[in-house]
Formats: sequence, structure tokens, C-alpha cells
Amino acid sequence: MKKLKAIVLGAGYRGRAYAEYAQAHPDQLEIVGVADPVQAEVIAAPKYWKDWKDCLAERPEADIVMITMPDKLHYEPALMALEAGYHLLLEKPISPTEEECRKVIDTAVRCQRLVIIGHVLRYTAYYAHIKALIDSGELGEVVSIAHQESAGFWKVAHSYVRGNWANSIKSSPIILAKCSHDLDLFVWWLSGKKCRKVQSFGSIKLFRKENMPKGAACKCVDCPPAIEKRCVWSARNMYVDHDELKYLFADHSREAMQKLIEETEYGRCVYCSDNDVPDHQTVNMEFEGGATVSHVMTGFTSQNVRTTRIALTRGEIIGDGSYLDITRFDGNSVETGVPVHYRLPNKSRHGGGDFNLVSEMIRILRRNDPNEIRETTEEALQSHLICFAAERSRLAGGTMIEING
Ligand SMILES: NC(=O)c1ccc[n+]([C@@H]2O[C@H](COP(=O)([O-])OP(=O)(O)OC[C@H]3O[C@@H](n4cnc5c(N)ncnc54)[C@H](O)[C@@H]3O)[C@@H](O)[C@H]2O)c1
Repeated sequence: MKKLKAIVLGAGYRGRAYAEYAQAHPDQLEIVGVADPVQAEVIAAPKYWKDWKDCLAERPEADIVMITMPDKLHYEPALMALEAGYHLLLEKPISPTEEECRKVIDTAVRCQRLVIIGHVLRYTAYYAHIKALIDSGELGEVVSIAHQESAGFWKVAHSYVRGNWANSIKSSPIILAKCSHDLDLFVWWLSGKKCRKVQSFGSIKLFRKENMPKGAACKCVDCPPAIEKRCVWSARNMYVDHDELKYLFADHSREAMQKLIEETEYGRCVYCSDNDVPDHQTVNMEFEGGATVSHVMTGFTSQNVRTTRIALTRGEIIGDGSYLDITRFDGNSVETGVPVHYRLPNKSRHGGGDFNLVSEMIRILRRNDPNEIRETTEEALQSHLICFAAERSRLAGGTMIEING
């Protein structure tokens, strides 16, 4: 089998996660170049560039371009790479604007290129079990889905209050940056039926200037110890004393993390940031055929986990994020070969989804079926359209938005 060659644009957390596949499966994938202004060399490759533009201008010989740069650096390289004949592993979101998302997918279809979006959840065994059960028809048709994304108080403070996705003007609305994974699951589970109506509410409940404790400072390192020590969102507490967020940084030595809170935006007080994205948001959806979906995202949870209840005409699926409980109303056992009780087999990042995504991309490219390539590419747009409709609805105070196309 032909080994595929890939270029990585952006050697941060996501770039490294996908590039690791090449190390684990050198017979399938080879990284032939990496572009990154600060840390390209963290991914082993024969060629490095400082900027994605320099890389694509050279048109290196490769099959795949992995675009794993910040949200606002997806659109331009995506178009350029597609026109140059590369397939894309494109991190979500396709782009922060609907118009640009449509343009990328239209270009990919015209150029007959594959676009795989970094919607890693659909590539995990846990969510694939749910998909297989629904598709088997054994439990009947989906009537309603209630899904909660418990985002974890520390994760929300890191990404959506202090960090890269705190400000929608600089990056993307949280519904696109965070929940597009979940909306992608609904589109996938209900494939063949499009979401037609969307309504959303959400706001910033806590992380506002008026909630800042009296006497606190805008940087945690300057905060009076009596206040800082009691604050669960203290940057020292989150980045130096605890390990939960360290995997996001290539150098996470104690010294590097101390420098992080002293010199970067991650040292900001959570009440003193430039955040404008909600810390909780709900979305209600109606799909063709009448199935309804309710999605709740909240940053006020002790765990970072997704829980799901799917009601079907002949049974029920209940998932706590790693364990599935499946019931047929007639009491008979499920015969699809899908286990009735299923436990996530490993604790790999994203439940194994990162590697499975790359593996699936390689499978599709090796199979080279034009219909599969087009359908996979087009489906990527659907969850994004729901996100844009939800954000319009939220900003309009919860008005119902209809999606066409
Ligand atoms: N699928 C997921 O679960 C998931 C999770 C987190 C982030 N993301 C998405 O992945 C993307 C990257 O996020 P991340 O967490 O890896 O961010 P990151 O900051 O860790 O990495 C981004 C990298 O892009 C590099 N970069 C910036 N400008 C560049 C340029 N001009 N040329 C080349 N490289 C450049 C940066 O130096 C950095 O190393 C974002 O769009 C984000 O929304 C997806």
C-alpha cells in the first residue's frame, strides 16, 4: 500500500496530536514538512518553514495538508491547498464565518479533494457504537436526544476565559469552537436528515468584571495572597500546582509554567479578561422527520465529560461518556453485535479519536471513491451551519432560525 505524505501547518497541540500517527504508523504516513513560526521542530520532519505561506508557495510533494493553526488561519491556507491539489485534514472550525465555510467546501467539491474536519469524537469507539446502534434500526427511529457537554471549570477558564477562544472576534463563538464536536455527532447520528430549525440561549454568568473580588488584581501573580489562595481559578493553582492543563504545552516544566502565568494571557484574572463568549449555552434543534435534539454546554462542572440520552421508538441509549446502557422496550436483547454495556477501552486523547481520524482519512484516500470523498466533505459543513444559526439565535435573544441548504 502506498504510504501517504503530509505537511503540517501549525505544530501546536493539534498538529502534534495528528503528526504522532506518522511515528506510530510509519508504513502509512510520513510527515514531509512542518510550518510554524515558533516550534516547527517539535515534529520530526525533513523540512521546516516559519510560515504556512512559505510552505505552500513551494508546493512540496505531499498528499495531505494538515491545517492545525489558530481558527483565523484556516480559510486562506485551506483554499490555497485545495486549489494546489492537496487533500485537507482541517481542524475545526472550517472558518469562523459561514460564507468562508461554504467557500472551502464548495472549492473542495469542485477540486474533488477530501476534507476531513477535526471532529474527533465521531472517530472514537464509544460514539461509533452509538452510531452503529442507531443505524442498525433495532431500537427504531430516533425521537429525541438530550446531550450535556460538561466542559469542566478549569478547561473553560483556560480556553474560553483567558485563552485562545475567549474572544469571538479574535477566534470563533464558543458554539463553533467548542460545541461543533457535539453538533457534528447529532448530524452524523441522524445522517440523511438535515437540521432545519435552531434556537439558542446563553450568556456569561460569572466571568465578568463586576464579579471580581474586592482588592483582587488583574494578574494572579499580583493578587493579594489572601484572595488568590481562595480562588479556584488562580493561574498558579491551575498551571503551576496542578497538572490537568500541562499536556497543552510542549514545555510544561515548573519554570515554563511559572513564566506562562507571569508573562502571558494565561496569568490573567478570570474576571479581568477580554472574554466575550458565553460560559453556558443551550441549543434546541429540530431535524427533518421531527427528531428533536437539546444540547447543553456549561462551564460549571467538576468533570470534563459528555453525557447523552437518546430516545428511540423501540428503545433507549444512555451514555455517561465512557459507559453505554442500552435498553429495548420489548425486553429482548440487542442483536447487532454491539455490546449492551460498553466501556471505553483506553484513556488515550479524545478516546482514541485523534488516531482513528487520521486512519480513516488514509482509508478513504486509499479507497479513492469519488462519492465517498464528496459526501464526507459535504457533511462537514452541516454542523457548522447549525453553529452559525445557533449563534444568530442567541444574539437575537433566542429567536428560532431556519436553516436552508
Ligand atoms: N479537534 C479538537 O478537539 C481541537 C482541540 C483543540 C483545538 N482545536 C483546533 O485546532 C486548531 C489549533 O489549536 P491548538 O490547540 O493546536 O493551538 P496551538 O496554539 O497549540 O497551535 C497552533 C500553532 O499554529 C502556529 N502558527 C501560528 N501562526 C502560524 C503561521 N503563520 N504559520 C504556521 N504556523 C502558525 C502556532 O505557532 C502554534 O504552534 C484551532 O483551530 C483549534 O480550534 C481542535
